[in-house]
Amino acid sequence: MNDDLLIMIPGPTGLPPEVRAALARPQIGHRTPAFAELIADCTAGMQYVFRTANDLLILTASGTGGMEAAITNCLSPGEPALAVSVGNFGERLGTIAELFGAQVTWVKSEWGEPANVEAVRAALAGGGYKALLFTQNETSTSITNPVEELAGLAREAGALTIVDAISGMGGVPVLTDEWGLDVVVAGSQKALMLPPGLAFVSMSERAWEANATAAMPRFYFDLRKAKASLEKGQTPYTPNTSLFVALQASLNLIRAEGIEDVWRRHAECAQLIRDGVARLGLRPFGDARHASNVVTAFLPPEGVDPKAIISHIRDKHNILITGAQGAYRGKFLRIGHLGTIDREQCERVLAALADALEAMR
Ligand SMILES: Cc1ncc(COP(=O)(O)O)c(C=O)c1O
Repeated sequence: MNDDLLIMIPGPTGLPPEVRAALARPQIGHRTPAFAELIADCTAGMQYVFRTANDLLILTASGTGGMEAAITNCLSPGEPALAVSVGNFGERLGTIAELFGAQVTWVKSEWGEPANVEAVRAALAGGGYKALLFTQNETSTSITNPVEELAGLAREAGALTIVDAISGMGGVPVLTDEWGLDVVVAGSQKALMLPPGLAFVSMSERAWEANATAAMPRFYFDLRKAKASLEKGQTPYTPNTSLFVALQASLNLIRAEGIEDVWRRHAECAQLIRDGVARLGLRPFGDARHASNVVTAFLPPEGVDPKAIISHIRDKHNILITGAQGAYRGKFLRIGHLGTIDREQCERVLAALADALEAMR
């Protein structure tokens, strides 16, 4: 085991000592008053992070389970949905909808570009879409989409918004109620400073109305069952109780710092990373005007294999960064800066990157 590894991939992230201590606590029963208190506090804490008074359900699943829950609880087979994809995870959201039988129309951007707002506007003007599906923060390309603008277009067209905010939630502002987002999904292993294993889904009134007639098959991810159980201080199936205990510890940290200050810290660290990468003579991957505050993608120097940089930084500096996914594998690098991120971590990874570049000259 390598306990001192500095994890700077876009999730899972490093854990603060308070969360690690919480994970080591004895088990609790999941049908007890103690758990009822815990889930109530965690739910309120996540509503604070989501900026919402909507129902918020906590599922024992990775983020993708939350995506599946969002789709299957709001749509019926044959219903038309508009899927906006700017990378790997946008592709996944639309694909889940397709797989469960929605009639999906795609608006795709090149990797590195944000959502094509004009194309979305034009497609929605055609009318008839039940939902607009998009990613808030596209982790594969380090692009943050114009969420508020996309949500406004959906609202005008009478479509629900189903938003994958798995990597951005807690690091980049998501104003669920102010922006009128109907269904928002987050995951535990990102800016929330937890291990993988919990997914969070918020549901607006409009989303519940859609749910009343949504006919896609679902069992484990039935959000109506989750809501009914939550009213009794429980979950329908055995939850990962340890992660709930850890979530409470992480939410205590977030509440103590204040969510606006958490967002500010992420923005400042992202700027440090972007500036540092530029100072090393490396070019960002993707549209800098839409650069994410939780992950930064950049190109390696001409002729240098990203894998060699990643290995050098891991083996010589004990820091984990990562490369690109899918069709872009081997083409660029990504540094995650989310969760416990601070100035010192940013400086360490930049120094390690400088050393790797020097070694590869
Ligand atoms: C934006 C986005 N969506 C979805 C996922 C999938 O989440 P999980 O791997 O927890 O299923 C990720 C994971 O990196 C992500 O970054």
